[in-house]
Amino acid sequence: MTDAPKLIDPFARAITYLRVSVTDRCDFRCVYCMSENMNFLPKAELLTLEELDRMCSAFISQGVRKLRITGGEPLVRRGIMDFFKSISRHLKTGDLEELTLTTNGSQLRRFADQLAAVGVKRINISLDTLDEQKFADITRWGRLAQVLDGIDAALDAGIRVKINTVALKGFNEVELEQLVEWCASRDMDLTFIEVMPMGDIGNEDRLDQYWPLSDLRTRLAKTWTLIDSDEQTGGPARYVRLEETGQKIGFITPLTHNFCESCNRVRLTCTGELYQCLGQEDQVDLRKILRENADDAVLVNAIHAAIAKKPKGHDFDYSRQAVDGQMTRHMSHTGG
Ligand code: GTP
Ligand code: 5AD
Ligand code: SF4
Repeated sequence: MTDAPKLIDPFARAITYLRVSVTDRCDFRCVYCMSENMNFLPKAELLTLEELDRMCSAFISQGVRKLRITGGEPLVRRGIMDFFKSISRHLKTGDLEELTLTTNGSQLRRFADQLAAVGVKRINISLDTLDEQKFADITRWGRLAQVLDGIDAALDAGIRVKINTVALKGFNEVELEQLVEWCASRDMDLTFIEVMPMGDIGNEDRLDQYWPLSDLRTRLAKTWTLIDSDEQTGGPARYVRLEETGQKIGFITPLTHNFCESCNRVRLTCTGELYQCLGQEDQVDLRKILRENADDAVLVNAIHAAIAKKPKGHDFDYSRQAVDGQMTRHMSHTGG
């Protein structure tokens, strides 16, 4: 597609990437993401799969080229494969370049083949540790074996896998080299993420959890030769290549290096709220507009009006030894 992008925000950033959280529910309860007792949305609040399709299609008609399905855990939403099948028609026309998802991996044994069949070529899977007990501790409800089996299923289906690891001080620090080697041995990319102050998560303290990726990078450089790369996957990660293994390692650094200046994305929640920034409260209720107008013209106008108000960036900051920019919203609400 050579068409000029049609959604441009006030800072001249073209919005070409839509992240859609299709459910706020999850079969895990990761400690940095959710509290143990979460109140989930009643089903009646959710956009139906048909409404989700209409919403995504409206964005695609306005220049969105990359669609990432998130949650909660997107694969626990009933009927989600029908949505994938239907929305993949935009891949066939070339209007959409990439259809992908971020998942905890627990349901991939069931869905990997079907995802590959509709044109999903690459997925991101969250995994913070390779230790069974630690995995059980961090996810509260998860089983490592099930996720590892899901990863195998994705690889067997011919899908490229990127592992997302939240860097957690005193938790997965000791496993850094092992995680890198494990990903290299399976030809998977690996991206580290700095923990962000999203949602009230009970007793966990963000400052205690926070492991700056500048430190992690210094650690990596003790074992491998890091070559800066200008590769982009359309998300916020900056990449290096490890000379010895050839593998790609990504860094998502909302705290140590703000990447908002190159932001290309907005987020739609499962209830049809459009969040213009992960780290700000601004949002627009697109569900009401969609339901009140059978014609997409009003919806398209509302999308343009929302993009015209996209904020410059987030205000996350731990540098004064205190958590600034904290969001009350949980990560599962906006899908990361
Ligand atoms: P690629 O397509 O592989 O580049 O994926 P991605 O990084 O866009 O998607 P993924 O779902 O793997 O995102 C990883 C994490 O990056 C998210 O869960 C967020 O934690 C973080 N992230 C993504 N976009 C933003 C953003 O705009 N701002 C901030 N602060 N964090 C973001
Ligand atoms: N900070 C950083 N990353 C987070 N994730 C969930 N909560 C947080 C947080 N507070 C990650 C998950 C997953 C991605 C969607 O977001 O581990 O990889
Ligand atoms: Fe579920 Fe992902 Fe949140 Fe973990 S980080 S509780 S897997 S939505």
